[in-house]
Amino acid sequence: MVYRIDDQVTAMAGSSVVDSPVINSLAIENSLPQPGPEQLRAALGNFLPKGATAAEQTRAIEAGLRSPAGEAMRDTMARWIVDSIVPVERLVPQPYLAWRPPVRDAMMFVVAHLSPARLAPKLLEQLELPLTTTAEQRLLRLIAKVPGLQKLGQVIARNQHLRPALRNALARLENGIRDVRPEDVGAIIRQELGPRLEKYSVKIAPAILSEASVSAVVRFTWRDPASGKRERGVFKVLKPHIPEYFAEDMDYLQGLAQCFADRHRNYGFPANLLPDTFKKVRRLLRHEVNFVREQKTLLEAWNLYRSMKGIRVPRLIQPLCTSRITALTEERGIKVTSAAARLPASRRKKVAEQLIEALVAVPLLSSDKEAIFHGDPHAGNLLYDNRTGELTIIDWALRERLSRDQRRHLALLFLMVTLRDGVGTCNEVLALSQQHIRSASPRGRMVSELVTRFLDELPVVPSGVDAMRLLERIAMKGVKFPGPLIMLSKVMFTLDGIMGDVGGSSKGMGFGFTIARHVAQHWIRNRKEFRSPLMNKDWITLQCSALLYTGRLWLKGEQALLDRLLPPGSTAPLTSA
Ligand SMILES: Nc1ncnc2c1ncn2[C@@H]1O[C@H](COP(=O)(O)OP(=O)(O)O)[C@@H](O)[C@H]1O
Ligand SMILES: [Mg+2]
Repeated sequence: MVYRIDDQVTAMAGSSVVDSPVINSLAIENSLPQPGPEQLRAALGNFLPKGATAAEQTRAIEAGLRSPAGEAMRDTMARWIVDSIVPVERLVPQPYLAWRPPVRDAMMFVVAHLSPARLAPKLLEQLELPLTTTAEQRLLRLIAKVPGLQKLGQVIARNQHLRPALRNALARLENGIRDVRPEDVGAIIRQELGPRLEKYSVKIAPAILSEASVSAVVRFTWRDPASGKRERGVFKVLKPHIPEYFAEDMDYLQGLAQCFADRHRNYGFPANLLPDTFKKVRRLLRHEVNFVREQKTLLEAWNLYRSMKGIRVPRLIQPLCTSRITALTEERGIKVTSAAARLPASRRKKVAEQLIEALVAVPLLSSDKEAIFHGDPHAGNLLYDNRTGELTIIDWALRERLSRDQRRHLALLFLMVTLRDGVGTCNEVLALSQQHIRSASPRGRMVSELVTRFLDELPVVPSGVDAMRLLERIAMKGVKFPGPLIMLSKVMFTLDGIMGDVGGSSKGMGFGFTIARHVAQHWIRNRKEFRSPLMNKDWITLQCSALLYTGRLWLKGEQALLDRLLPPGSTAPLTSA
């Protein structure tokens, strides 16, 4: 088989890191015939003792990888993999031509850096797989027990900007993760919980419910002493190889991020796309292995949402939790986008509202001093039950906090952008920035100009991410915003994408108005109590702004103001403070 790699070579031309082994090998390879599986088997044969067991063969390859010839061996194997057995051309469809060089480089990089003990069995496995094995199956085997790469695929798969074909291909990879067997998971649970299994009469389901890069989920039932009844739960179990492999995966991800940062120009992607992706992958992995932290977050989240009708968070089953196992109530529902696809348009609109309320309005308007919000609300972490209309937010590994003051300015920013109030918007942006920028200073004036231009360009119907787009644009000019705010902005973009999948365009549903309405209604209801992050003077600001927006000089009462401000028929009361 001959694969064209001209486009990759072109893309690499002019690279500032021409001495890197990946690039050199590309140049050499271009002038050599491609090795087929047969040649490779012959080449590797030197390392493989005749008639040896699999373990002995693996050890021989491992020794080869550690020897002075190891680097050349890795290089040959890497090229064999990306060009012959899992050809990048097959993996990345034609419309994504630009993705081929980075995908290829990433694969080569990992084969060049994975420890001999992890790489050797993979190489042997690839040699022994039948020649008819598909590229996809081979890739699944290659990334088995390599959580860093599995996670990378997953994060890219969830990028809303990818076309469905590639997203589906990557999602298939994600669903194809099989690193542990049910009996391994059962053994870990028994080892971790010991006598507690009997004490709470735990029965573990024989099958795995879901498996991802870091953990596997299995159902169980137990006798809850509080109710005296048998209850349903799920165990989220840290996979056994994770503690051992974690550090190495974080390391090569860091190396890969650096390698991509150095040559992003060659790939023709926006400067931040690849570094941001890697940052997200590393952050996810770091937090996903921290079960104790997720357990604490789950308790906190459960409290935050406990009085919200229609929004649920699984409840922690504390007596059955350890640092490697999280026990939770089993929740009903399916991935929100799949659930919504089966609903009529009117109900889909309600689902969209629930999503905004649950993931943005509730944390934004919480009376807590520091409110948490979900940092990774992709559709797979949002279960929806069409029968009860309940939305359950799962998977709290990634979360962030915003202070009262930050939330207050953020709430006002949403309002001001929705109202197209330039002065108000500028004040909130400055208040949110990490530096103390005075509005009269040169930087203050720059922000003011950016805001004016941004608001002028906005279409009539606001989108929920307008405010975030504005912050992003200002951040690009060097104004710094706190980390949690940047995280929230990512959450909003994710949500915007889900809204599109759930009920058509997010703009049509008034994402911006929905948030503004929640803010305003909440404010009215909680104004007299000291429970809202918003203050009295904010209300005056809002009134002035709204008056100018509507062009009316006289409005009776606050509700009347709201009626003017917000589109009719879109006002559903916020069920809780
Ligand atoms: N409390 C729960 N009730 C029912 N299913 C659950 C629950 N928690 C997790 N699951 C199932 O397990 C999958 C993985 O769980 P999740 O917490 O998202 O972990 P991760 O995505 O890190 O593997 C979910 O997509 C869901 O299908
Ligand atoms: Mg998840």
